[in-house]
Amino acid sequence: MPSKVPVLCLDGPSGSGKGTVGQICAQRLGWQYLDSGAIYRSLAFSLRQAGIDAADINSAAQQAAQLQVACLPGPDGSAKIMVNGVDTGQDLRTEEIGELASKLASEPRIRDAVLAAQRRARRPPGLVADGRDMGTTVFPDATLKIFLTAAPQVRAERRYKQLKLKGFDVNLAHLFEVIQDRDARDAQRSASPLVPADDAVTLDTSDLEINEVVSRVLDLLQPRLVHERAGRTSITSASSGGDSRDR
Ligand code: DC
Repeated sequence: MPSKVPVLCLDGPSGSGKGTVGQICAQRLGWQYLDSGAIYRSLAFSLRQAGIDAADINSAAQQAAQLQVACLPGPDGSAKIMVNGVDTGQDLRTEEIGELASKLASEPRIRDAVLAAQRRARRPPGLVADGRDMGTTVFPDATLKIFLTAAPQVRAERRYKQLKLKGFDVNLAHLFEVIQDRDARDAQRSASPLVPADDAVTLDTSDLEINEVVSRVLDLLQPRLVHERAGRTSITSASSGGDSRDR
């Protein structure tokens, strides 16, 4: 029986900390990292580059199916996103691209077109996947599903600091508004909306430092990994005629 590659899903709204927490967890575990938002952002970016109107869903879905996105570890610990072999640098990180990504992501045909690429990221020894529907749709059999939240003002301030650090000219009040709109669209769409999976653990990160969130997530993950491995061991020994009790 093929062994199941473990997956840690981190879903949540913008600024909840899932990207930063996800990258640190992936580094500590030595696992692959999937920034699924970067796929939708890459699509928005590539449509713009190719001069394709995002409202032309046929062309957008075709482009989505051909898109090659790789999330590689960047020099400062942040993920480096390569689209069709080209490093996108900071081009994907603007709120304008985030907004267009969110609009494209509400279209079921676009979501279907990127589903297989997301699942292909599940490679040994494990995967940390961040997004909006990792636990509900993409990896329903994940080892652990975490839904990260934080108060809207805290999330806006985090995004503000991140964007400032990356050199963007941003206004906190405006950012607060656009993030609220984007999260409302992501949560209210009919295709894979931003909602916690039934079996997700919700963590409010408003008053937590990043390292505290990472520790809590990894503490929740460890017993699940032990349990999953024990389950596999017992299945393997049962099928080879050995003792089927967990050890
Ligand atoms: O995580 P992010 O801000 O980079 O995501 C940008 C947009 O992409 C987000 O507003 C909605 C969409 N998205 C999605 O619909 N499903 C995902 N799994 C990830 C992102």
